[in-house]
Amino acid sequence: KGLAKKAGKANKHEIKKAAVLGAGIMGGGIAFQSASKGTPIVMKDINQGALDQGLAEASKILNKKLKKGRIDGNKLAQTLNNIEPTLNNEALKDTNFIIEAVVENPKVKGAVLAEVEGLVSEDTIITSNTSTISINKLAESLKRPENFCGMHFFNPVPLMQLVEVIRGEKTSEETVAATVAYATKMGKTAIVVNDCAGFFVNRVLFPYFAGFSLLLNDGAKFANVDKVMEREFGWPMGPAMLLDVVGIDTADHCTDVMAEAFPTRMQKLENDPISVLYNNEFYGQKNTKGFYQHSLDKRGRPK
Ligand code: 3HC
Repeated sequence: KGLAKKAGKANKHEIKKAAVLGAGIMGGGIAFQSASKGTPIVMKDINQGALDQGLAEASKILNKKLKKGRIDGNKLAQTLNNIEPTLNNEALKDTNFIIEAVVENPKVKGAVLAEVEGLVSEDTIITSNTSTISINKLAESLKRPENFCGMHFFNPVPLMQLVEVIRGEKTSEETVAATVAYATKMGKTAIVVNDCAGFFVNRVLFPYFAGFSLLLNDGAKFANVDKVMEREFGWPMGPAMLLDVVGIDTADHCTDVMAEAFPTRMQKLENDPISVLYNNEFYGQKNTKGFYQHSLDKRGRPK
C-alpha cells in the first residue's frame, strides 16, 4: 500500500530519459531493461570495451527473444534505439534520472557521483546500484543528498525480479517515490529498505558466501557443494556458480565492505578462496575464468 502511494507521488518526477554510469554486464542489463520498457537511457562509460560489452549484453538478450519469436524485429530495433551508448558527459545533460553502476569502491563511486551531480539539473535524481556501500556514506560526496538513494539490481538483471530502493537519512520521499515508480515501470518489484551496509539481500547473501568459503577451507570441493545445493537442495545455482555470475571481483570488494561494517560478524578469512581467485584475476563469467571455466561466443565474448 505504502509503495503504491509513493508511486503515485512520483508523477511529479516523470523520467523522460535516464542514464546508467558504467556499462559492462550490469550496466548493459539495466540499459536493456529500461529501454525495453520504453524509457530511453544513456549508457555512459569511460572505456569503449565496457560500452561494447554493455551493448553486446542488450543485443544478446534481444536476439535470443527474437529467435524464440517472443519479440519482432521492430521491438528489437526500438529497444536498441532507446539505448544511447557514449563516452561523453555531454549526453547526461538532458537526462533526469541517473543510475551509477561503477566499480564497488566507495572512493570511486563518491567521485563519480559528485562529478555527475555537477553536470545535471538540480532536480535530477541520482541513484547508486551499490551492492553493499552505505547510502549515507556515499551521500557525503553530494550537495543535494535529498535527491539521492540506492537502486540495487540483481544479476542477471532481465531475470531477477527484485530491486532494492535504499533510503538514506537525507533522502526525500519524492526521491524514493520516483525511484520506486521507475523500477515498477521497468517491470521490477521494488522494496524500500533503510540504509546499512549490504541493505537487505546482501546481508543474507554474504554470510552465505562466507559459510561457503569456510567449507572450502575445511576441505570441501566447490563442485560438490554446488551439486548438493542445486540437485538435492533445489536452489537454481550453487554458491560457486552464483559467485561467477555476480563477479568474483565484485564479491571480493563487497566482502571487504561487509567486514569493515560488521567487524565482529563478518571477518575476512585468511586465504579466503574468493580473494585468492580475485588476486589471480579470476573474475567469473565476465572474463570466463572463475570457479568454473566459462565459454566464449563466436566474437570472443563471454557467453
Ligand atoms: N540474461 C538474460 N536472459 C537470460 C540469462 C541472462 N543472463 N540467462 C538465461 N536467460 C533467459 C534464457 O534465455 C531463457 O529465456 P526464455 O524463457 O525466453 O527461453 C530464460 O532466461 C530462462 O533460462 P534458463 O532456463 O537458463 O533459466 P533458469 O531457470 O536456469 O534460471 C536464473 C536462470 C534466473 C539466472 C537462475 O539460475 C537463478 O535464479 N540464479 C540465481 C541468480 C541470483 O541469485 N542472482 C542474484 C545474485 S546477487 C546480486 O546480483 C547482487 C549483487 O549485489 C551481489
